[in-house]
Amino acid sequence: MAKVEIKIYPDSILRKKARQVARVGNDERKLAYDMIKTMRSANGVGLAAPQVGISKRIIVVEDMQGDNRIALTLINPKITRKKGNVNFCEGCLSLPGISSDVARPEFITVEALNLDGDILKINADGLLARIIQHETDHLDGILFIDKIGFLKRRKIIKQFGAKVCMEF
Ligand code: NI
Repeated sequence: MAKVEIKIYPDSILRKKARQVARVGNDERKLAYDMIKTMRSANGVGLAAPQVGISKRIIVVEDMQGDNRIALTLINPKITRKKGNVNFCEGCLSLPGISSDVARPEFITVEALNLDGDILKINADGLLARIIQHETDHLDGILFIDKIGFLKRRKIIKQFGAKVCMEF
């Protein structure tokens, strides 16, 4: 497994819509392992393939249960149900040092393929729902700073370097 470089805003790949994965093969499995390694060594809790320069619809997310962390890989993730609305502080490995409260649905259902190419359906809430939504946005070129007001965005961009939140 290799650690790879994380693309930093305003790298243009972060704004591109990523391609659907037609077939899950060894390239996708190797990429997912590299992404998990990279996410963990950066102390992140999620990572999307465009953040490592690959424009494919693949995300990795930490499912944290107590002290256990299980890295899930979701390929072609699609959020099929959203419910509620909750604020939570977000950071992003591609926007180092910046964080903000972001409002998002509290409960989601996501459908995706796993690394064997099998269909997964996950109901998530709390931090896992938050991470999945943040990473799925990355696949459409959307960053968390797009989901807050202009004035707030201008203010937090001045806070570069002051790390407050978990980064995904
Ligand atoms: Ni991010």
